[in-house]
Amino acid sequence: MVDPMRSIKTLAPKVVVDSGQLHWVPHFIDFSQWPTLCKDETRTIPSPQMAHYVAPLRGDAARGRVIAMDPWRGNCVTCHEIPGEEWPGTFGASLHHYKQRRHTDANLYQQIFDVRITAPRAVMPPFGPLGILSDQEIRDLVAYLQSLE
Ligand code: HEC
Repeated sequence: MVDPMRSIKTLAPKVVVDSGQLHWVPHFIDFSQWPTLCKDETRTIPSPQMAHYVAPLRGDAARGRVIAMDPWRGNCVTCHEIPGEEWPGTFGASLHHYKQRRHTDANLYQQIFDVRITAPRAVMPPFGPLGILSDQEIRDLVAYLQSLE
């Protein structure tokens, strides 16, 4: 939810066509409900949590892809290369051919739920503990990654 009366906290880059430059414009999204990694942060961050994954998966790969691309939900493409996306971020590992890594569904569910259990220093939001993604949305993302041949 965006409160127009609150000060704007972030800037977003906008390409200035044919100039080779970026113009920084106010980003009208209020991120203040989420703690940051800034050293001045005073809000508490939930500690790393084990997920309680129960099989079977019952995820939908097509829905998972939509969530991965959606800036309001997974936004995975901001940090990970995803097949078919021209301008991904490269901060995290590429998710191309992810199925070949042969992760179990439970392991993959855990990585999306809270990656800090397996990669304590990864700057990837713990989507489960922060309540950004629901159980079903994480299942859909697992189905999507497991479909990337
Ligand atoms: C802010 C950046 C960021 C976002 C957003 C992000 N990740 Fe990550 N992710 C990382 C980093 C950094 C790592 C740890 C380094 C690595 O292994 O890529 C990681 C690790 C992973 C891993 C483990 C990679 C491996 O080596 O097996 C998976 C799977 C993963 N992310 C999936 C996702 C999914 C799915 C989403 C969206 C719901 C997502 N990530 C969103 C940054 C991000």
